[in-house]
Amino acid sequence: MKIAIGNDHAGKLLKDETVVYLKQHDIEVLNVGTDTEDDVDYPDYAIKVAELVTNQTVDLGILICGTGIGMSIAANKVKGIRAANIYDKQTAMLAKKHNFANVITFGARTHTKEQVYQLLDTFLHTEFESRHLKRIDKIKEIEE
Ligand code: RB5
Repeated sequence: MKIAIGNDHAGKLLKDETVVYLKQHDIEVLNVGTDTEDDVDYPDYAIKVAELVTNQTVDLGILICGTGIGMSIAANKVKGIRAANIYDKQTAMLAKKHNFANVITFGARTHTKEQVYQLLDTFLHTEFESRHLKRIDKIKEIEE
């Protein structure tokens, strides 16, 4: 599995910690986030990850900002992206099972490293339920 990860200045530290988790789990990581804490604009990183997902360079995108909210709003503007701001075990599970999220977002100001590791455990080990495909198709119709 290959994952692209992007972040703004607020998400820099949590990004580094998330990369550690991904590498420990033998996941190939493409880091396109900022590597300093100098102010940047999160949409610039959301688009980078979103495009790597839609052109199928990677299997999944992870975006980290202060809350994960701005990143999910920006990423969801890109056709084909289903970005979900996951924040507990249930949303981590359902974002995959029902929504087939292809980008997940985290908040460095709202989640600890330990919480993010648990959310990744849940999301990555949950399967999409195909009975929800007709709803995904309706989202695609909205995009057209
Ligand atoms: C940056 O201060 C902050 O606004 C950003 O990281 C994010 O939380 C936006 O949603």
